Amino acid sequence: MATALAARGERAVLSYAGRTEAPRAQAIPTRIGGFGGVEGLADHMRSEGVTHLVDATHPFAARISANAIAAAEMEGVPILALTRPEWVDGPGDRWIRVTDTEQAVAALGADPVRIFLALGRQTIGDFASAPQHFYLLRFVDAAEPTLPHHHLVVDRGPFTLAGELALLRDHRIQMLVAKNAGGSGARAKLDAARELGLPVVMIDRPFIPPRPQVSSVAAVLDWLDHGVVRGV
Ligand SMILES: NC(=O)c1ccc[n+]([C@@H]2O[C@H](COP(=O)([O-])OP(=O)(O)OC[C@H]3O[C@@H](n4cnc5c(N)ncnc54)[C@H](OP(=O)(O)O)[C@@H]3O)[C@@H](O)[C@H]2O)c1
Repeated sequence: MATALAARGERAVLSYAGRTEAPRAQAIPTRIGGFGGVEGLADHMRSEGVTHLVDATHPFAARISANAIAAAEMEGVPILALTRPEWVDGPGDRWIRVTDTEQAVAALGADPVRIFLALGRQTIGDFASAPQHFYLLRFVDAAEPTLPHHHLVVDRGPFTLAGELALLRDHRIQMLVAKNAGGSGARAKLDAARELGLPVVMIDRPFIPPRPQVSSVAAVLDWLDHGVVRGV
């Protein structure tokens, strides 16, 4: 999205929450840090003369998405979400669908298993209540996870099927836990799990109030040009 906006010479700013230590370089200016809730975001948009708001956050970033809807309404600024379509299970998949991390912990069972916990740093603390399992973690930045029995890999996607198969085999993984992020960059672990016949505890997306939504950069550009949502 940022590359496409830069190519068109749009005046655009990419906003980061500040979770990643060294984000990738971008073709448009960036800012880092929260706004201080709905009022803060609304003030920011007013003072910067923002005319369009694109919510391109991760589908699990429910708070900022709800704030963006409310702030856009307050300021009368049109808003569009750019979201990856959800993953759906197919033949050969062994998904256990849950609604949150608490349910995911319960789905692991009482007996110790070796788990690839494909979640960000923010939610892994919930798994400390099931210390009998081994947890393989993969973060963008090095960190000191609070889980007792773990191995941390520092890497960032996109990941390949061959790479994910090797990772799961090397660590003798028996089960995966993932958020339904959607998209292609993080999909390979699910294909690898299917190939190895491993169960996947899949955490469903959180509720986000209804808003116009597309899944392609082209559809966002079309919306900027014509003010209507035509494609997805
Ligand atoms: N949740 C995930 O699983 C996940 C996974 C991968 C990447 N991410 C990314 O990590 C970031 C934070 O995610 P989260 O789940 O912590 O979000 P969240 O719970 O929805 O938001 C928490 C707070 O972080 C600030 N914030 C979030 N996104 C921001 C942005 N793009 N620009 C400025 N401030 C932002 C806001 O602070 P104020 O209220 O002070 O404005 C917001 O209230 C997002 O950019 C998201 O796309 C999240």
